[in-house]
Amino acid sequence: MSSDALPPVGLSTEELQRRLTALYRADEAIGQSPDLGALLRALVQVAAEMLGADKSAILVWDERTERLTCAAAIGFKPETVARVSLRLGEGVAGRVAASGATIAVNDAAADPRTDTTITEAESIRSFIHVPIKIGNRIYGVFNVSYTTRHDIPADDIRLFEALALRAAGAIARARLVEQLQAQEARYRQLMENANDLIFAVDTEGLFTYINRRVETVLGYTPQELLGKSIESLVTPNSLPAVREHLRRGLADPTYRPSYELELIRKDGTLAYVEVSSATLMEGGRVVGRHGIARDITERVRLEQEIARRQAELSASRQRQTELRDYIALTTRAVEEERRRIARELHDDTAQALVAISRRLDAVSDLISRSPEQAATRLAEAQDLLDQTLTSLRRFSRDLRPAILDDLGLVPALEWLMSELGREPHGKLVTRCEVLGEPRRLPPEVELGLFRIAQEAVQNVRRHSEATAATLTLHFGPTETYLEITDNGRGFLTSEMRAESGIHLGLAGMQERAQLLGGTYTVQSTPGQGTTVSVSVPY
Ligand SMILES: Nc1ncnc2c1ncn2[C@@H]1O[C@H](COP(=O)(O)OP(=O)(O)OP(=O)(O)O)[C@@H](O)[C@H]1O
Ligand SMILES: [Mg+2]
Repeated sequence: MSSDALPPVGLSTEELQRRLTALYRADEAIGQSPDLGALLRALVQVAAEMLGADKSAILVWDERTERLTCAAAIGFKPETVARVSLRLGEGVAGRVAASGATIAVNDAAADPRTDTTITEAESIRSFIHVPIKIGNRIYGVFNVSYTTRHDIPADDIRLFEALALRAAGAIARARLVEQLQAQEARYRQLMENANDLIFAVDTEGLFTYINRRVETVLGYTPQELLGKSIESLVTPNSLPAVREHLRRGLADPTYRPSYELELIRKDGTLAYVEVSSATLMEGGRVVGRHGIARDITERVRLEQEIARRQAELSASRQRQTELRDYIALTTRAVEEERRRIARELHDDTAQALVAISRRLDAVSDLISRSPEQAATRLAEAQDLLDQTLTSLRRFSRDLRPAILDDLGLVPALEWLMSELGREPHGKLVTRCEVLGEPRRLPPEVELGLFRIAQEAVQNVRRHSEATAATLTLHFGPTETYLEITDNGRGFLTSEMRAESGIHLGLAGMQERAQLLGGTYTVQSTPGQGTTVSVSVPY
């Protein structure tokens, strides 16, 4: 077999010219064929032209069916093309495929190897079959046929073999390209339809590829993200990680970290992904990073939900304990208060009444003997009675001021503040401010707010050493806000909580606020005064 298609010697100039042109055309056609099918069709055309044949065909060996079938033909009837199906060794073509050696037949009718069903149907008188081998495997059989009897010159056989050799190279390349394309298409499809995000970025962190999955995970189309920086997708929390992994990955191609990122969706909500990334190389050069990111938003959301519930649970347990403590303490406080009331009634009121009674006894003794002395005793009894009445009034007013029931919260709070201003030392400037449209609130709400104010005012009086105190009551559209502020010495709220149990005032305010479905805060800084505020949904 010749190594190249040198034009055979001993031919006419026109013939040489024709064959040369045919060879060029062969190269051109081979080069231009976009795929394997087109290449085979170009080859049969070129072969017929180059060898002045009437027909040409390429039979391809199919490993799976173990048959030679016709893959491209020119000049043959379609039914013949469809009928060709030869086993190895069957007919002349089968023999060529089996042996890998060319067979040229000058007179088909006289050659016993010929399968006459084809030659007769196609009126073939002479033909050449050359093998097409890729590596050392048979790819198929290349045929040219003549309808007139032909003494086939050895040069034609060499020329045809040379063409078959070129064909083999071109077919091998085309097959490789097709395999690569099929493979790439498969991979691309796998990547496009993957359940995970697949992406690639360049050395600057700009997206060079991202699959369609990004639409479901982040709400962006791949086109929207190509050329954009990966940094534009992550939260400030995740930014340092993204930068660090890119930097290390570009410096060390073996760096393959796994990490979690917080991403910002197109709609502004957060998504969580678990990323595995690796360095992207091209021709031995680092060109970027690529990776797979799994959407773990649901998992993270569940974890957060569980953590939140646990916190709620422990808060409510904590609150239960606090409430139990508080109830125990208030029970004790109520008993204390009863004892105090009993003592006050017994020590003060009862004794005063006893004294009055003695005076009146004296009056009845004296009234006939010494009306003047009787008058003095009477006046004393009268005085005592007045004092007792006053202190009894104050006592009952402290227990529950009638002003609250009769006139409502605003006058009651105003009275409370004016009382605070009238403290013995009288250095305290008080102010009572009412904002919004005043309205009556349900009695239990008014009482609750009043008790809170009363305790806060009590604390100002007893602990603050303040020179000014302000009470603000704000009637909002859906809630009422109460605030008592002083400019006194303040205290450390953290310490008060720690030693809860001794002090009931602050805890009581909180309880009352919570009973009303409201919120309560106390803010205090040593040296800078104290603010107690309560907001209730009424
Ligand atoms: N306005 C304030 N200015 C400075 N210190 C305050 C003020 N309010 C509270 N405190 C500090 O916080 C502590 C706790 O107050 P809380 O009202 O709970 O208890 P208490 O007033 O000591 O006792 P009670 O149970 O009789 O109210 C007070 O002892 C005081 O040290
Ligand atoms: Mg107190």
